[in-house]
Amino acid sequence: PGFERPAIAGWRVLHFPELDSTNEEARRRAQQGDEGDLALYADRQHAGRGRRGRAWVSGEGNLFLSCLLRPAVGPARAAELSFATALAAHDALSAATGLGPRFQLKWPNDLLLDGAKVAGILLESATGRDGGLEFLVIGIGVNLAAFPAETPYPATSVAATLGRAVAPLDLIAAFLPRLSHWITVWEREGFAGIRDAWAARAAGLGERITVRLAHETLEGVFSGLRLDGALDLRLDSGAVRAVTAGDVFLPGT
Ligand code: BTN
Repeated sequence: PGFERPAIAGWRVLHFPELDSTNEEARRRAQQGDEGDLALYADRQHAGRGRRGRAWVSGEGNLFLSCLLRPAVGPARAAELSFATALAAHDALSAATGLGPRFQLKWPNDLLLDGAKVAGILLESATGRDGGLEFLVIGIGVNLAAFPAETPYPATSVAATLGRAVAPLDLIAAFLPRLSHWITVWEREGFAGIRDAWAARAAGLGERITVRLAHETLEGVFSGLRLDGALDLRLDSGAVRAVTAGDVFLPGT
């Protein structure tokens, strides 16, 4: 059932020693009628999910958190909130570690520490019969204590860099108020209100990058972020391609 913890910044907080996946638990709660503004975290996951169908290795000491929201927008705009989430995670990690500028955001919504992946975000949503967004689950995994040994990209943990791990609940306490803040900015100003902040912290913007899509690999200059969150890639031909899903490889990785 989960253990109730004191609410943080208007979020009800539930703690679980172990879950299959916090995103899955949030989905179950939504389907049982939970009204939203629910944050739940687990010490371990045995079926943690990553983006693009990948598994997320989920041993104890790291943060596994999912937030259930019921935003009053269409499904097309839900992905915008992954950028708000990345900003909140960036704020929270900077504050909790004091390592500020060493954290960067990587499109679409990874967090890097000294250029290596330290956190990932997975948004999952459900659409109602009327075509509107029924609920949104924002999942975030942060390598606080450990990171997987074999990844196709460089990875790290807070402990490996800082010399000490940050407790998951301390990071949650730093994160939830900032998530509320960036969601408010997004509600007031739309995606335009978070795009510039995101760009200011982004890795690889203006640089030559490689983007691996499902069926092809593209190279070009990461020239900007569109208002729908797509990455603009300026190809050598001069054409600009909007990338909506893919894996980015930065120079030197
Ligand atoms: C990625 O591939 O980078 C996204 C990883 C997201 C992992 C988090 S851990 C908490 C939440 N529950 C899950 O099953 N996945 C997300």
